[in-house]
Parts: sequence; structure tokens; C-alpha cells
Amino acid sequence: MSHKTVLDLRRMKAGNPPEKIAMVTAYDATMARIVDAAGVDMVLVGDSLGMVIQGHEDTLQVTLDDMIYHGRCVRRGLRRAHLTVDLPFMSYQVSAEQALRSAGRLVQEGGAQSVKLEGGVRSAPAIEAIVRAGIPVVGHIGLTPQSVHATGGWRVQGRGADAAAALREDALAVQEAGAFCVVLEMVPTELATELTALLDIPTIGIGAGPNCDGQVLVCNDLLGFDESFKPRFVKRYATLQDTMIDAVRTYVEEVRAGVFPAEEHCFHDKRAPSRVQRIY
Ligand code: KIV
Repeated sequence: MSHKTVLDLRRMKAGNPPEKIAMVTAYDATMARIVDAAGVDMVLVGDSLGMVIQGHEDTLQVTLDDMIYHGRCVRRGLRRAHLTVDLPFMSYQVSAEQALRSAGRLVQEGGAQSVKLEGGVRSAPAIEAIVRAGIPVVGHIGLTPQSVHATGGWRVQGRGADAAAALREDALAVQEAGAFCVVLEMVPTELATELTALLDIPTIGIGAGPNCDGQVLVCNDLLGFDESFKPRFVKRYATLQDTMIDAVRTYVEEVRAGVFPAEEHCFHDKRAPSRVQRIY
């Protein structure tokens, strides 16, 4: 089965009726296999892996080599979803040439079909250079976690006339630079609705209301891996943290009680003179 392409995804917005795009993150082959089997359209190897996989407080420590490693892992688990891999902090901000080199590595070594980078007007030259080389780009505006020290934290962006106007400019710059879709993160519903109508390319929302052309969530949040992390925009579709703790707790109890492994989990040598007996 072939992977969804940029054309398939653009057609989803242009269709009559339009189809919503479902995107989710994944960081390894097992999760990729699961979300692919569930029918997602796009899988993002997000630099959110810095937080949910590596345990950092933000995404700023993630390197291009980290993204390549996880991209390669995820690609092996996918059959039909489109694979986008994030350009991490400082892999594209220096120059358009640096951005193109980094994007090229994500495709050649990381299995990416497209790359995502943060920023609107300021990132337009990088987007243009990458698109010109034949690599599809996903934009990312609104809250841009790689600028967390400049924006002063994880806040809703685009509130008020000036901030909304700046975000409108960012959205148009990303589209004009050639991105094939754009993530809107933590943007008021009213503004996200307006941007979705304004742009020809699909908008993928996270904390941007129901009227975007698609939605994205971090797989760990959607599945409830961490009960202590629950921002307003996350909907938990499962509480796997509880299920997993219960399962491992039962395993620990069974090991301690000598209940596991049972006979069906054991191997025997039929040529051995006598069977091993349980000793306790
Ligand atoms: O890094 C990431 O996972 C992301 C999504 C939350 C959009 O950028």
C-alpha cells in the first residue's frame, strides 16, 4: 500500500465536501504501526519527543540526529500514512542554505516525505529554499515551542487586533513561500476559523478550535500516558498510564509470588533425564 502524498492531503481540503485531516505524533515503529492501523492521514515525528521521550522541559535540546533516528524508526512502522518530520531548533534558523541541508537529511536519512518548521514571515526564506529543492514543507505558526524563551511560555497566540494581524501575515507568508499545509497551535477559535477560510492550503489545529481543516495531537497525550499533563486542548481517548501501571504491578506481584512464568511460558529439553520441578 502506498503512503499518502501531499497531493492526497491538499485534495482533502479542496474536496466537495472537504475531508478533515487526522494527524498524530509517533516516535517509534511500534506506535507508528498502531496509529497507521487506526487510519491516521499524517504522522508527525515532532520535536515534542524532547519532552515526551527524552524527558526535557522543552524541545530545545533535540538535535537533527535525534530527529533522523526517530524518523527512521517511525517510517519502518508505517504502511499508508504520510510521514512529516520536524526540523529541530537551530537546524534551520541560521540560513536558508542550512535549512535546505537539514531538510535534505531528514528526507535522505530520516525517511521523511515532508518536513515541518516553525515560524511565519521569519521562516519564509527557509521554506522557499526547501520547497524549491522538491521537499514538501508543513508550516507551524501561533505558539511555536522552539521560541518559548522569547514568547514567555506556553500562551495562546493571536489575541487582540495587532497579534491577530501579525498571525494573518505569518499564515499568508507560509502559504506564499510554498508550504502545503500549516499547523496552527494555541490560536483562538475565531482567528483559526478566519485563517482556515483565508488560506488555500489546509490548516491543522492543536488548541485552535474545531474549524481547522485537520487536527493534530501528541500520541502520548491522546492515549493518556501521563496523567499529570493535561492542557486544555488535549482530549484523552484512553488512560493508558493506569492500564500500564496495573499490568506491570501484576507482573511484579506474579514474579515475586513465583506465579510467572507458568508452564505454558517454559521450554523443555525432552532428551533431559528428568523434568525440572518447581522448587517453591
Ligand atoms: O512537536 C510536535 O509534536 C508538534 C505538534 C504538537 C504540532 O509540533
